[in-house]
Amino acid sequence: MAPEQSWWQTAVVYQVYIRSFADGNGDGIGDIEGLRAKLAYLGRLGVDAIWINPWYPSPMADAGYDVSDYRDIEPSYGTLDEAQSLIAEAHDLGIRVILDIVPNHTSDQHVWFKAALADDPGARDRYHFTSGRGDDGSEPPNNWQSIFGGPAWTRVADGSWYLHLFAPEQPDLNWDHPEVRAEFEDVLSFWFERGVDGFRIDVAHGLVKVPGLPDGVDPSVDAVPHSMLVFGDQHPAWDQDGVHEVYRGWRAVADRYTPERIFIAEAWVSSNERLARYLRPDELHTAFQFDFLRSPWRAEKLREVIDDAIGSAASVGAPPTWVLSNHDVTRTVTRFSRSQPDQLVETDWERARWAREEPDHELGRKRARAAALVQLALPGTAYVYQGEELALEEIEDVPDDLRQDPTWVQSGYTDVGRDGCRIPLPWKDTAPPYGFAGDPAAVTWLPQPDHWAPHSVEAQERDSASTLSLYRDALELRPTLWRDAGDLKWLTAPDGVVAFERGASQCWVNISTADVDLPHGAVVVLASVPGVETTLPVDTAVWVRTE
Ligand code: NOJ
Ligand code: CA
Repeated sequence: MAPEQSWWQTAVVYQVYIRSFADGNGDGIGDIEGLRAKLAYLGRLGVDAIWINPWYPSPMADAGYDVSDYRDIEPSYGTLDEAQSLIAEAHDLGIRVILDIVPNHTSDQHVWFKAALADDPGARDRYHFTSGRGDDGSEPPNNWQSIFGGPAWTRVADGSWYLHLFAPEQPDLNWDHPEVRAEFEDVLSFWFERGVDGFRIDVAHGLVKVPGLPDGVDPSVDAVPHSMLVFGDQHPAWDQDGVHEVYRGWRAVADRYTPERIFIAEAWVSSNERLARYLRPDELHTAFQFDFLRSPWRAEKLREVIDDAIGSAASVGAPPTWVLSNHDVTRTVTRFSRSQPDQLVETDWERARWAREEPDHELGRKRARAAALVQLALPGTAYVYQGEELALEEIEDVPDDLRQDPTWVQSGYTDVGRDGCRIPLPWKDTAPPYGFAGDPAAVTWLPQPDHWAPHSVEAQERDSASTLSLYRDALELRPTLWRDAGDLKWLTAPDGVVAFERGASQCWVNISTADVDLPHGAVVVLASVPGVETTLPVDTAVWVRTE
């Protein structure tokens, strides 16, 4: 008999970008009290787990991915006691809690980095400090570029340089140092003891670098800074074999706990085969597969990406994972609201190209709703980024002086960055802050648009045809129709139509330019637009039963 599935192998995980989820005290910044107050909303939505973006003390140079203390809570988000209550209350609702751990770098305000700058004996060895090139050492030690733009090196007062693959305020740790390894294993235990069910691992493919930090040698790659994706395994900073030893250690820590504690890798590597190496039985449980999120709205690409993701996950016995968007990329509605490329979207730096084309958000919304039904019918784990269930679009016109993402400054004001997918959620009312903060006079940390009233939770709750209602219906049906339905089998379908069967359920999506007939006798259980019975309109998906 097949072993029973664990919850995380089929879960729907809701990503809480805490800064923008709900504000409990009216300072315009989301927080733990705000999240606690909305747990019932998440229970009603029907998700199995939440993944909370970093909530540790942070100077916020990169919205919390610059951590100054891994064992506490950012004061503007709340307290450890509140975190403890949140975990317990979520568990009471049957919702697991996954945190975000940031092991590639600390904040420059972390005690370790402060000690390094003060030149305490040995303190610099925990980071990558080295001398520069050129006669006077005034050139960076190698040609690596920061993901956010500019050199990946910053010079300190005494003339030496330190490495930061991201912002200068995010110095990279040296994972060859035994204290670094021991510290993070202890941090994992700290949160596991508090009942946390698992961790999403930030930049999981970056920790270990090629010794000596040599130049990247492929000029086509080095010429394109700020993309984790382009570098893949072709760059000495990424996806090195030594990183797997770190995760074997982490797995041993997790395995000491009951119930099961799990890890999800954020690893931008060049292929699903490389990704599968992180998922060997003594390493991590699962990893984000990002090709689904990179797929254009094209039938053949979608089929290809789904096959590839399922195949490579199966090769190591891991569940496939499906992500439509997250806090780092353009929102799904907007991605689908413009002309679609033939290939996988290279990187999110497509932003610049896209912004020149007028978006058709209604079209994008229709496609995003259809994509959600495809996502939730697939085998494995699905991630829903907050606001996807409301079909929010990317806000592309945040005023320049209010932009927060370090990408904006570090790219020399050429890339607007990720603020547009991080706008505080609209909960109710007809004007900002749309109930995001209890206090109607609150000023949110990123401005909300004037036109979001119809997209608020309250407005969508009243409308049975809203995207929120669609997600609720889909998540309610998913356990019966899909959760244990087994392998996916492709069905013969007209050009531009993607159709698959799992058990007695089928999912059909029409990405062609003409309506198509559904199979004779198919009973539509759920459709991404109301009223579908026998004909499947363009940019629409349905779930059907065949018996
Ligand atoms: C990936 C995170 O998702 C992103 O938001 C962050 O800027 C980088 N890692 C650096 O920590
Ligand atoms: Ca707040």
